[in-house]
Amino acid sequence: MPTEELQRPHIIDIPEEQQGAVYEAIGHPTATKRFYIESYGCAMNFSDSEIVASILGTDGYSATSDIFEADLVLVNTCSIREKAEDTVRKRLEYFNSIKRTNKGMIVGVLGCMAERLKKSLLEQEKLVDMVVGPDAYRDLPKLISNLSSGDKQINVLLSREETYADISPVRLESNGVTAYISIMRGCDNMCSFCVVPYTRGRERSRDAHTIVKEAQDLFDKGYKEVTLLGQNVDSYKWLDTSKNSVVTFANLLAMVAEVDPLLRVRFSTSHPKDIDDEVLYTIAKYHNICKYIHLPVQSGSSRILELMNRSYDADWYRSKIDRIYEIIPECSISSDIITGFCSETEEDHQESLAMIDYAGYILSYMFSYSERPGTPAARKLTDDISLEVKNRRLSEVIERQRILSGQLNKKDEGKNFEVLIEGLSKKSDKQMRGKTSHNKVVIFDVHPEYKIGDYANVYITSSTTATLFGTIIQ
Ligand code: SAH
Ligand code: SF4
Ligand code: F3S
Repeated sequence: MPTEELQRPHIIDIPEEQQGAVYEAIGHPTATKRFYIESYGCAMNFSDSEIVASILGTDGYSATSDIFEADLVLVNTCSIREKAEDTVRKRLEYFNSIKRTNKGMIVGVLGCMAERLKKSLLEQEKLVDMVVGPDAYRDLPKLISNLSSGDKQINVLLSREETYADISPVRLESNGVTAYISIMRGCDNMCSFCVVPYTRGRERSRDAHTIVKEAQDLFDKGYKEVTLLGQNVDSYKWLDTSKNSVVTFANLLAMVAEVDPLLRVRFSTSHPKDIDDEVLYTIAKYHNICKYIHLPVQSGSSRILELMNRSYDADWYRSKIDRIYEIIPECSISSDIITGFCSETEEDHQESLAMIDYAGYILSYMFSYSERPGTPAARKLTDDISLEVKNRRLSEVIERQRILSGQLNKKDEGKNFEVLIEGLSKKSDKQMRGKTSHNKVVIFDVHPEYKIGDYANVYITSSTTATLFGTIIQ
């Protein structure tokens, strides 16, 4: 996919092309030291890096995008597939080559690989100084200071309470228009293929008032879109002790939507088993809640879904899709699909292909199965599909999705959409890029009366499989 046409995904898994983004230098008035951070993995990790930036800011650090001027180099890592870990290992080799000539530089590993590999990471990667898991970022200043004793530092304790609720993230690599807000952490589901419950710990929801406050602060600073993040946002649940009532995800969506009608609200990821009518009616009710749901199916075969422990079958998922279109007819839906999971037959694979068409996904994130050590699938099932077959099936689902995305984009030609302008097109500064509520990227000519952060009414004139093109109409 050409990078220009790649959407800045707000879904939980950020495509490889966008991984490792180096953040812009962010000055801090009292900063004396500089940190450099690269993030890999899902939006949650990118959001965590902003929390880390805030914590380091209070410890005299400001961010730099130049690794050679950094006192502290951090890599926020992902373990979701083997390839994600391989990418990080290569980056660590590179950091270490710099460290050989800059002995004072500290190298720290954060995130899911830190949590999964723990101490062994310090042993395997000899030049790593510090290993810090996702729930231990508040400890960073102390760990950094302890390094002066000459001992390597590690904190990979998972917490049942930590939500970093009170920390105001430092927005890194920000376009000033869209931002992530983390609303919960961890995951209590046990999808058999997935490492996240082990790297991120138990599910916990953040204080709803701090979420609304963060959304309000962002809006006051000129942001126009927030994406509420969690591994399973629909199971958000927070007890408001002052009112002795529970705030559900539907309640939270409404609270954030009411910050201002000009603040768009997105959310990710929804688990099919937990998204209920109350959430759907809330999306339908508020114009500023985007009409887009990322609803990963993983497989179209009920037999495979059972082995994956997804707690729904293909029919149940299809009825959920029907219900979404019934309550929100203009809604668009996207998905994650895994090919070549343990024992997957050609028939199972055909059912995944058929699901793409049934659901009418506007886009999917598609992966071949990668066995993760310690997960239920690794312990109980055999990873018996050859790499060749996994990859062939992967190209087939990619192709099926590509065709469908093209067809769905074609249907948008000749229509008008409200587009939030996010920036200039990467290909030409005479064009701008933005997104529709249903999460499609739109490219259109710069217009003297419109600037980044504005809403524009755009008439769609043409499309490709990944992008709509149009002109602003007033
Ligand atoms: N919480 C989200 C997904 C988190 S991980 C959800 O439940 O949908 C993002 C995606 O990575 C998953 O949806 C899945 O499609 C993929 N994934 C997870 N583990 C994988 C593995 N072992 N091999 C291949 N893909 C995997
Ligand atoms: Fe992983 Fe499943 Fe949790 Fe998503 S819901 S993070 S796939 S265990
Ligand atoms: Fe996200 Fe990767 Fe961890 S997908 S939760 S960074 S394993």
